[in-house]
Amino acid sequence: MEHTQTLLVLDFGSQYTQLIARRVRELGVYSEIHPFNYSIDKIKDLCPVGIILSGGPSSVYETNAPKPDQKVFDLGIPILGICYGLQLFADRMHGKVNSAARREYGKAELFIDDHNDLFAGLDTTTSVWMSHGDALSQLPEGFKPIAHSHNAPICAIRHSEKKMFGVQFHPEVVHTPEGKKILGNFLFKVCGAKGNWTPASFVEKAEKEIRTRVGSSKVLCALSGGVDSSVLAMLLQRAVGDQLHCVHINNGLMRKNESEQVVQTFRDTFHINLSSVNAADIFLSRLAGVDDPEKKRKIIGKTFIEVFEEEAKKLSGAVEFLAQGTLYPDVIESVSFKGPSVTIKTHHNVGGLPEKMNFKLIEPFRELFKDEVRSIGRLLGVPADLIGRHPFPGPGLAVRILGDITKVKLDLLREADDIFIQELKRSNLYDKIWQAFVVLLPIRSVGVMGDDRTYENAVALRAVTSVDGMTADWARIPDDILAHVSNRITNELRGINRVVYDISSKPPATIEWE
Ligand code: XMP
Repeated sequence: MEHTQTLLVLDFGSQYTQLIARRVRELGVYSEIHPFNYSIDKIKDLCPVGIILSGGPSSVYETNAPKPDQKVFDLGIPILGICYGLQLFADRMHGKVNSAARREYGKAELFIDDHNDLFAGLDTTTSVWMSHGDALSQLPEGFKPIAHSHNAPICAIRHSEKKMFGVQFHPEVVHTPEGKKILGNFLFKVCGAKGNWTPASFVEKAEKEIRTRVGSSKVLCALSGGVDSSVLAMLLQRAVGDQLHCVHINNGLMRKNESEQVVQTFRDTFHINLSSVNAADIFLSRLAGVDDPEKKRKIIGKTFIEVFEEEAKKLSGAVEFLAQGTLYPDVIESVSFKGPSVTIKTHHNVGGLPEKMNFKLIEPFRELFKDEVRSIGRLLGVPADLIGRHPFPGPGLAVRILGDITKVKLDLLREADDIFIQELKRSNLYDKIWQAFVVLLPIRSVGVMGDDRTYENAVALRAVTSVDGMTADWARIPDDILAHVSNRITNELRGINRVVYDISSKPPATIEWE
C-alpha cells in the first residue's frame, strides 16, 4: 500500500483547530492534530506533507506564549500559519506584531494582490472571517504580502523561497466562503498532496496498523452498542478476527431492549466473540440514594472497571490490548492535552480503564468526528439503524434521572423515552436530530385524570440539532408531534402527568441535564 500522506496541524489553542483538520480531510488529505510543542523527532517520524499552525488565544509576545520547536521552520516542509500561526513567523523572522487598535471579529473584505498559489482561482475581492486582537505591522524577513484588507495592510503573506504562508483570517470556518478553496490550494498547489484519502483508505491504513501492532495477542473491546464502539468492533474484527473479544456490560442504565439488540446484532449476526454480562444489580445497588451527578459518574465508571476486569480475567490467553472508540470531541472535552485550549468538561469516554488496567490502548478514531466514524461504519457494513443511532452517554439513563436512581424510575423513563423515539422515527425526524431523549425530573406536580386529582412525575423532552455535540440548538419539532408524544406518554404511562419541552441551546445549557 502507498504511504498515506498526512497533514500535521499544530494546535496553539484555537477554538477552530479541529475544524482545520476536518476541512483538510474533507479535501481528501489525512490530517492529525498534535500539541504546539510536538517534538521535532515526532514530526519527522510523521513525515507530513505540510504543516498548518493553528490560531490561538495568546499573543506571541506574552511570556508563556506557546511556541513550536523552532526547527520546524527549517524542515523544508510547507507551512501555513493561520492568525496566531502567522504571527509566529513574525516573531521568528523579525516582523512586527502590534496589538491592533481595534480588535477585529467577524466578516471582512479581503483584497487579493497575488493569485499565484494560495489564492489561485479566487476573485480579487472575497469575504473572510477575522478573529484576532494582534495584527502584523511589519513584514517578517523574506516575506511578501499577497492580500490586504481595509484594517490590515498585511493580511496574507508568502515567503519567497521557503514554502511558507500566513493568513490573518480563518479559512477553516464556513464564514469564509472560499476558505476551502484556499486550504485546497495550500494542500495541492503548495504541498503537492494527492487528495486520495477516503474512509476506505482510512480503513485500509487502520486495519494494517492494528494488525501489525497486535501481532498474535488478544484485543479486548467494551461494546456498548453505540455508534463508536460498534464501528470499532467491526473494524477490529476485520483486522484481527478471532483475536478480538468484546464485552458488553448491561449496567441497568441502558435504553429499552438495548442490551438484547447488541447481543443479537454482534454475536448472532456478525459472529463476533462477545460476552454479555448483566451487572444491573451491582450498579443499581451502588447508585442507591446518590443524587449528585459527578458522584453518579464516578460510581458508574468505577463499577464498570471492576466488572470489566472480572470479565477480562476470565479470558484465556494474554490480552495485551484494549480498544476504545474515543473520538476527537471526547478528547478535547475531557482533558486538554492536545494543546492549550480551555478544558470544557471532565470525563466522557476517555480515562479510567487504561490507567487502572495494564493494557496498551488502541484508539483508531481518536482524530475523527462522529460523522466520519459513521461513514467508516457504513463502509464496514454496520447496520444503518445502528449507524444512525443518536449518541448515548456512558453513564446512560443515570444522568437522565435527576436525583436518585431506582429501578422503578428507570423502567418508567425507558418507556417514556421509547415513545418519544418511536414518534420521531415515525415522523421521519429522527435522522434530522442529533440527539433526542426524555429526562425524568425530580418533581411531582398536580394533575387531573377523570374526576381525580393526581400528583405525579414530570418529564422533559430534549431534542437538539448539532454538528459535533460541542454546540447545539434545540430542535424545532412541529407542535402536533410534540402534542402526540405528550398525549401518549401521559396516557400510556402510569406515574407521569406532565410533559415539558426543553428549549435551551448549548451553550449556555448542555445537551444532557446532568
Ligand atoms: P453535554 O451534556 O456535555 O454532552 O452537552 C455532549 C455530548 O456528550 C455526551 N455526554 C457524555 N458521554 N459520558 C459520555 O460518554 C458522559 O459522562 C457524558 N456526558 C455527556 C452527551 O450525550 C452529548 O452527546
